[in-house]
Amino acid sequence: GNIRVEVFDSLDSTNTYLKEKGAHGESEGLLVVAKEQTKGKGRMNRAFSSPKNGGVYFSLLLRPSINPNEALFITTIAAVAVVTAIKKVTSKEAKIKWVNDVLLDDKKVCGILTEGSISMENGSLDYAVVGIGINVREPEGGYGDEIKKIAGPVINGEDIEDVSSKLVAETVNEFMKYYNKLPEKDFLKAYKDKSIVLGKEVYIIDSNHGSLGTTSEIVSKYGDSLETGKVIDIDDNLGLVVKKKDGELETLRSGEVSVRTK
Ligand code: BTN
Repeated sequence: GNIRVEVFDSLDSTNTYLKEKGAHGESEGLLVVAKEQTKGKGRMNRAFSSPKNGGVYFSLLLRPSINPNEALFITTIAAVAVVTAIKKVTSKEAKIKWVNDVLLDDKKVCGILTEGSISMENGSLDYAVVGIGINVREPEGGYGDEIKKIAGPVINGEDIEDVSSKLVAETVNEFMKYYNKLPEKDFLKAYKDKSIVLGKEVYIIDSNHGSLGTTSEIVSKYGDSLETGKVIDIDDNLGLVVKKKDGELETLRSGEVSVRTK
């Protein structure tokens, strides 16, 4: 399709900016890129640290004909696209930790937040904004203590501008390939190929434990009491099919549980 691009040195949030555009009738394909965000948004109402010279932050406006409850597919396509882009630009093999954490050397290198607006008339999705923040390199002064535990950079070099623009271009290219064939669900195979949990033994972290820290903190504190299982498949709705100790199969839904490889 036709992608139009707006680039900013600084913006509060590329998602917030684009949602405004979406609400005012802007058509699909507007891409907004910022080198810094002053109010970057993460999932679950968290902030997303978006320092200058640390990453690249971008959002794409979409008008998909999908059910609002299928918005997870958009996020997943973005994760697949980012992994492919990282491979093309840096030759590094990032992996996806279910459901959409992009990891390199066990550290999260990218955050994805899809937001949408549902039409009052018929309950369909009016527009969606998929926002992607890539931690291209460690910012000056380094990552803060909390962020350091979970986040890491894609590159260690200096040339953030060049790598950032290539990552954005490749990500959007890859994204559009799968997005344009959304009903075929071609992205599922690519997703499984890049999954770090498929075939592995995992700890199952339910919502009671979920708020108690990072997954590694939870595992080191409660590891013995956490349920475990082997991931044998990822189904068409991105459910994680896990075979538990007693041989029983259970399908885990994102949003309800998280997992960590053993
Ligand atoms: C998360 O990991 O919780 C999701 C983070 C999403 C961050 C991106 S950066 C570009 C876009 N604009 C925002 O304010 N958030 C998303």
